[in-house]
Amino acid sequence: MKKVFLETFGCQMNVSDSERVASTLVSRGYQITDSQADADVVLINTCSVREKAEQKLYSEVGRIRHSGRMKPVVGVLGCVAQLEGETLFDKIEGVDLVIGTRAVGRVADALESVFKGEQVADLGERERDYNWYVSEEQRHSPYVAFVPIIEGCNKFCTYCIVPFSRGREVSLPADEIVRQVLEFRDQGVKEIHLIGQNVNSYRPVTEVGLEGFAGKTPFSRLLRAVSATGIERIKFNTSFPRDFHDDIVDAIEENENLCNWVHLPVQSGSDLILKAMKRLHSIDRYKRKVDRIRNSKRDIALTTDIIVGFPGETRKDFDQTVELFEYCKYDSAYIFKYSPRFGTPSYKMADDVSHEEKSARFAELEKVQRRLQAESLSRYNGKTLSVLAEKRSAKSYLDLFGHSTCHRVVNFSCGTEFLGKIVNVRITQAKSNSLYGEVV
Ligand code: 5AD
Ligand code: SF4
Repeated sequence: MKKVFLETFGCQMNVSDSERVASTLVSRGYQITDSQADADVVLINTCSVREKAEQKLYSEVGRIRHSGRMKPVVGVLGCVAQLEGETLFDKIEGVDLVIGTRAVGRVADALESVFKGEQVADLGERERDYNWYVSEEQRHSPYVAFVPIIEGCNKFCTYCIVPFSRGREVSLPADEIVRQVLEFRDQGVKEIHLIGQNVNSYRPVTEVGLEGFAGKTPFSRLLRAVSATGIERIKFNTSFPRDFHDDIVDAIEENENLCNWVHLPVQSGSDLILKAMKRLHSIDRYKRKVDRIRNSKRDIALTTDIIVGFPGETRKDFDQTVELFEYCKYDSAYIFKYSPRFGTPSYKMADDVSHEEKSARFAELEKVQRRLQAESLSRYNGKTLSVLAEKRSAKSYLDLFGHSTCHRVVNFSCGTEFLGKIVNVRITQAKSNSLYGEVV
């Protein structure tokens, strides 16, 4: 039985693809191993969103080549594979297999050809055959499952490689999504994440599966349809600000199992920069959406992504980002330094914010966020949160950790018999990134 080591970089969509690849490989007689050292096949599922992520592929293959043992079969999957195709055979010595984002369902077939001595590059068709199969053993968690609802992206924000690496937006059929959620529910999954580059741009070809569900958009109808499955918790990300309508908040308010967390990447606090990024929303309109979220009776946590140092970003533009952070009081924020990606429209713009200035803005914004986050986290002190006990804590053998409905990491002392259960935890301490508490 051949052993496969599968390494995954990047977003939840990559994690989800890897779960499918692993499930299919096991059904075709392979064994998935945790040890790269004794693997016959090493597959690397890659990310190309920033240069740093892409570099990981190059250093990883180099490491395998120089490990001094007989070289395993090396396959590159995912976004870098889709973008680079067979040029990877020349660019990186030792690569035997290249499988793009649309061809991940065919890894097992491709491996058969590789074992016959061929080099294979499969970038798939425009629309891939969707492979829903994820086995319980290959999910990243026994209690949490990812359900892709929309793949690819049509937005073409000027800095972003995703529309090129993942192709056009395709919404998956609602009846299949609901079927998948029911299957997970019956397997004992407590929390599902509806995932996609822009979940709220969801627009399936037909309404099959959504009939009878209220909602102003297909996405809010889907939320209500998924809620009706009775699965205990539903989270969704990422949301695209232009397509974020109040009705999504209405759906959260009406249905307890729709969790109180919204990830709404703003990318910049300056209208000028948003325009140059082609984000299709203004700060004013974004703030109105934030107001609706913040005024909700569900105490919805709000998180975001932000890029500092986009071409042309002045000190004034950056100050507006800081102001926006003060206004939104994000519960958490992923801050990125702008990284030019070859093939994107902004690649041709002068990358004119110096490396030092990008680092300085990054550090400054991080400091602001840390202060705001500490204030926002302190509101949980003494409160009781509903937490899914997911894992034993890495730091303390006696502690478990999990996520609250608002997607906060919570650590608490509790026996392992609680693993997989949803427990009430009274928060006793708020640290910069996580909460500590005791079971009540
Ligand atoms: N440079 C820096 N950050 C980027 N992101 C996407 N493309 C780039 C880029 N070229 C960030 C955005 C996005 C997140 C997933 O990655 O903030 O929301
Ligand atoms: Fe990239 Fe913009 Fe699409 Fe998000 S919406 S994946 S940032 S192009």
